[in-house]
Amino acid sequence: MFELLTQVNPSLNSKFDMARLIEAKDPYTAGHTWRVANYGQVLGAALGFQPEQIEMLLWAGTLHDIGKINVPDEILCKPGRLTDEEFAVLKRHPQDGFDLLSGTPEFNGVLNVVLLHHEAYDGRGYPLGLVSEEIPREARLFAVVDAFDAMTSNRCYRPAMHADNAIYEIWRNRGRQFDPEIADTFIQLYRDGLLEHVIGHSDFGVKVGACPQCGPVIELSNNHHLDQQIVCPICNTSYQLQPTTNGEWQLSSLAG
Ligand SMILES: [Fe+2]
Repeated sequence: MFELLTQVNPSLNSKFDMARLIEAKDPYTAGHTWRVANYGQVLGAALGFQPEQIEMLLWAGTLHDIGKINVPDEILCKPGRLTDEEFAVLKRHPQDGFDLLSGTPEFNGVLNVVLLHHEAYDGRGYPLGLVSEEIPREARLFAVVDAFDAMTSNRCYRPAMHADNAIYEIWRNRGRQFDPEIADTFIQLYRDGLLEHVIGHSDFGVKVGACPQCGPVIELSNNHHLDQQIVCPICNTSYQLQPTTNGEWQLSSLAG
């Protein structure tokens, strides 16, 4: 499929461009891959991963959901609860991502995460139902950070949860969905304020833009110009960036 995509658009030749295709399919996931990759690196460093492993965590986080390319938009963006059949289609994305990347040697280092980031420590995850240490450590790491970012992001089927409540859910599920040591390390990073630069951001120093109607769903880049028009991907309202007195930016609605 990668070859097919690059034939369609030759500029889609980087891992990052591939991953951004997923966010283009579901506008509610603005910045999700950036945040998961960066949470993954911070947590990996705290857990003592080696520098070359931490580099791998960046790409694993970036590509973890690449298999969602195969999930129809009406399932990915469904506002309500998925039927059993629809959930079964969604649950294919780890295997699809693995199949997509496994023929290319440069992706070998990320395959465990792509295939196994929805495994659960107690064996109730998918696609293989592996238990505790059977799940590679990097995949157990991404189970925590992926769940935290999903809970703290607006989704088409529910609004974002406050980070304090998401951390409580991580704690409540330590030893069940999550590896207890990895969950505890992530919770400590949160308590120490070491995740603040990632929470609610879509790039270093760039917060996710909040549309008054749709919530924080507008991904900004750090090279936006002040006079550049920004359109909410969900309600199509147009905005412009305006500097605030505290040195940050806010979105102001354009008339008309
Ligand atoms: Fe996933």
